[in-house]
Amino acid sequence: MNFRCSSAPLADLGCDGLAIGLFSGNWEQQLTELLSNRASEVQALMELRQFKGKRGEQVSLTLPGGKPALLLVVGLGAPEQFDTQGLRQGAASLAQSSRGWHLKSLAMALPLEAFAPDQAMGALVQGSQLALFQDLRFRSEVEPSGDPLEICLHGIPETLQSEIPQQQAICSGVELARELVAAPPNVVNSLSLEATARSLADEFGCELTVLDESACRERGMGAYLAVAQGASIPPRFLHLVIRPRGTVLRRLVLIGKGLTFDSGGYNLKVGASQIELMKFDMGGCGAVLGAARTLAQIKPDGLEIHVISATTENMISGEAIHPGAVVTASNGKTIEINNTDAEGRLTLADALVYACGLEPDAIVDLATLTGACVVALGNEIAGYWSPDETLADQLSAAAQRAGEGLWRMPLQASYKEGLKSGIADMKNTGPRPGGSITAALFLQEFVNTEIPWAHIDIAGTAWSEKGRSQDPAGATGYGVRTLVEWCLAIAAEEKEGLSQ
Ligand code: BES
Ligand code: MN
Ligand code: ZN
Repeated sequence: MNFRCSSAPLADLGCDGLAIGLFSGNWEQQLTELLSNRASEVQALMELRQFKGKRGEQVSLTLPGGKPALLLVVGLGAPEQFDTQGLRQGAASLAQSSRGWHLKSLAMALPLEAFAPDQAMGALVQGSQLALFQDLRFRSEVEPSGDPLEICLHGIPETLQSEIPQQQAICSGVELARELVAAPPNVVNSLSLEATARSLADEFGCELTVLDESACRERGMGAYLAVAQGASIPPRFLHLVIRPRGTVLRRLVLIGKGLTFDSGGYNLKVGASQIELMKFDMGGCGAVLGAARTLAQIKPDGLEIHVISATTENMISGEAIHPGAVVTASNGKTIEINNTDAEGRLTLADALVYACGLEPDAIVDLATLTGACVVALGNEIAGYWSPDETLADQLSAAAQRAGEGLWRMPLQASYKEGLKSGIADMKNTGPRPGGSITAALFLQEFVNTEIPWAHIDIAGTAWSEKGRSQDPAGATGYGVRTLVEWCLAIAAEEKEGLSQ
């Protein structure tokens, strides 16, 4: 999709479609201000449709002989409650209603008074581009969708045109994450993820290191390899590095859980445990590779960004790990695997130890880790844990700007009791109550306490059964935008520090 910023009057944009958003209350008056000449005719048609301006309400009108001939309207609700998220959703609704009309150019006019221009531009581009995303890779017959060739952003100054590519880079990262997560488990596996990481490295000039099984064994990654040993597809530990053009001021690590399928292992997922959804269990890996795609294009000044995923699948076979097995992670800690279905934390344990070895300034891991987090926060909010106040605040601000739901959860130290083992240093699975907290506490055992670290449980947010806020159903690409916003904020902070 092409985007054009324009501060010209609506009538001068020369578009064949016009998309507008109207607040409830006095929408008639807003309509008059937007469409001076045809407002009364349009108002009559909208009254016929009982338009009220409620948030998300849609009306599409063809105006024979009109210029433009197609008018798309979305309700924005009460102006007092209209925030960036409302703007994003408004743009998303309008973009979706423009689908199928084969427009050359769609003018999009939403009320932007309450926003800084760059913030408004980001919400409009991301809102419309991501709402129009569709994944047709696995269909044999495809009809042209009739999306507009261009969207003209009315009221965004032309000076911001040069920042459109950065927004498109963000969208391309979200799209990569969605495609990776949506792809079936017989298509995306550790070897295909290696290939994806390789093509990112080649395309954008980053460095890729891949550890195969024997390299992981040399490093003593017994927790990760215990999960991988049941699979016939070999494990791949992926490590991508994005370097800045100039000097390195901060080193950040992004880790994603990369289970390309989670059968549960011998603690097989049965009953209502959604085994068929478990292709999504590399949602963390998808998010960090998506963020890598964006960040490798932007190459934020001063940041060296490490992207890591210990990829494998959790399968059953004669080789698969036994429930009750005791394994040793790469930091020397021993783990009793009392449940093979708590495999994500085993792979993350070795990834966290590896990350700490890079001596970074911060580590953030993303994982579809626990059903308990889904129960706690549902499908619109991810939970996060961090012992570091600064990092915690940075992440919550980043998620806010990104429009992604994120809520801090407690690292309740007393719950470590639940991970005590009768035979090893710890068990991998605690009791059901507070299951997402004990999972976070387990991970904390593998992080050097001096390094700021946060864990984000995206089990609820990585997949959306029905679609939400106009985003298509299925893989959401959750996490990419928050990670990118976080990195960009740190780069900006460094720049500020230098200029002072
Ligand atoms: N990948 C799952 C987490 C999950 C489960 C996400 C259901 C979405 C829906 C993870 O590997 C897992 O199986 N977790 C177990 C842990 C339990 C055995 C302690 C869970 O949450 O049930
Ligand atoms: Mn599992
Ligand atoms: Zn899992």
